[in-house]
Amino acid sequence: MVVAHDSALPPADSPELVLVPATPEERVECIKLHSVAFKGPLDLETYIARENHLVDQSLTRDGLTCWVLVDRNKPPGQRTILSSCETYRKKAFLAHGGHLEDIITHGIGTVYSRPEFRGKGYAGRMIKELSQKLDSWQMEKEKRTRSVFSVLYSDIGKTFYARFGWKPFPASHISLPAITEEEYRQGLAKVNLPKPRTLTADDVRTCMCGDKIIQRQRDLLRAASEESARAQVAIAPDIDHFRWHWAREEFYAERLFPNRDPPVVKGAGVDHTGVYCTWNRSFGETVDENTLYILHWEFDQPIGPTQTKATVEAMAAILRRAQLEAHGSNMAHVEFWNPTPLVLEAVALLEPTAKLVHREQSSIPCLKWNGAEQDLGNDVEWSLNEKYGWC
Ligand SMILES: CC(C)(COP(=O)(O)OP(=O)(O)OC[C@H]1O[C@@H](n2cnc3c(N)ncnc32)[C@H](O)[C@@H]1OP(=O)(O)O)[C@@H](O)C(=O)NCCC(=O)NCCS
Repeated sequence: MVVAHDSALPPADSPELVLVPATPEERVECIKLHSVAFKGPLDLETYIARENHLVDQSLTRDGLTCWVLVDRNKPPGQRTILSSCETYRKKAFLAHGGHLEDIITHGIGTVYSRPEFRGKGYAGRMIKELSQKLDSWQMEKEKRTRSVFSVLYSDIGKTFYARFGWKPFPASHISLPAITEEEYRQGLAKVNLPKPRTLTADDVRTCMCGDKIIQRQRDLLRAASEESARAQVAIAPDIDHFRWHWAREEFYAERLFPNRDPPVVKGAGVDHTGVYCTWNRSFGETVDENTLYILHWEFDQPIGPTQTKATVEAMAAILRRAQLEAHGSNMAHVEFWNPTPLVLEAVALLEPTAKLVHREQSSIPCLKWNGAEQDLGNDVEWSLNEKYGWC
């Protein structure tokens, strides 16, 4: 049931407003409210089922909180939800001055005010309150009991969240078109690329999430912090993140295309070069919005020109395989965020005219850094700023 709201709404700066975790009933109410903005091609019932499916994944089971901005004097069931959002607890790495720490961070998502309440400052008040809550939220069992950083992905440009401390970070991507089997074969032969192998979910876990690989990521971050005065942070590119994205694509595929094969190919790699990537499929309202996103690249930094060439060619071959997978999954594009110089070289091999797009409005990665108060310096670098961290 959606609670009828008071005709006289409180001002956004009222001391009577409070941000609290939603009750289970309020969470469903929030889902119904924000379905208008976020349900895409799903009907309401299926959207609620999707949200319930996504909250039951290893990333979210104990780590997802739905927040509501309400009047502190009213009990649940009788209080009007003025604005709402969700936070996701995530594993992360922090490196500073050559030291590495395993920490947790929070990602904020699903920020929403219903249309008739907009422009009154409620979302702003909520984000301000959230900034304080997240300082210690779910940190009791951690070594650091104060939050070092948190992230969000703004769909409303770069200024709104910056007011509250979430500064915009690089938001670029390259989009490549889906290609047919024929174009795939011709493409590989034209530039003499290796043939990549496709990865199942299990392969991704083995090839991209093993202990050695996670340790290598930690070592790289630590090394970077020795060379830079700035602290380095990364959201851990772990299997929990990938599974959450896959749970999403599998849910859509099953509901929207029950007669098609499920999307079991979760990435591609070229073993002898150690280059891998994992992806997921995102279903929009039209086929042109259907996008296969590369969630994360995994590779060793090559040493010398021979290794560099092999790495770039492996990346190019994997991108081609992603384009073919996109075609087979009814996706119009392949998209990858903030490509590294090596990925850019790979793109140049395939599509010399492909453009690096700098987003100004949607999916802007934003990070709030609390390190200055914790003797970690004023500045931070966000490593592995890729799609897998999105929520
Ligand atoms: C974005 C949203 C949460 C703002 O809620 P709200 O309660 O109206 O927020 P506030 O009144 O505190 O602040 C509104 C500010 O957001 C800005 N804003 C809202 N929608 C915007 C958009 N699409 N692009 C840029 N800015 C936007 C307004 O311009 C306003 O800025 P101002 O204070 O400089 O005038 C609400 O419009 C909404 O739910 N939109 C649909 C879902 C959505 O896009 N959520 C954000 C995902 S990142």
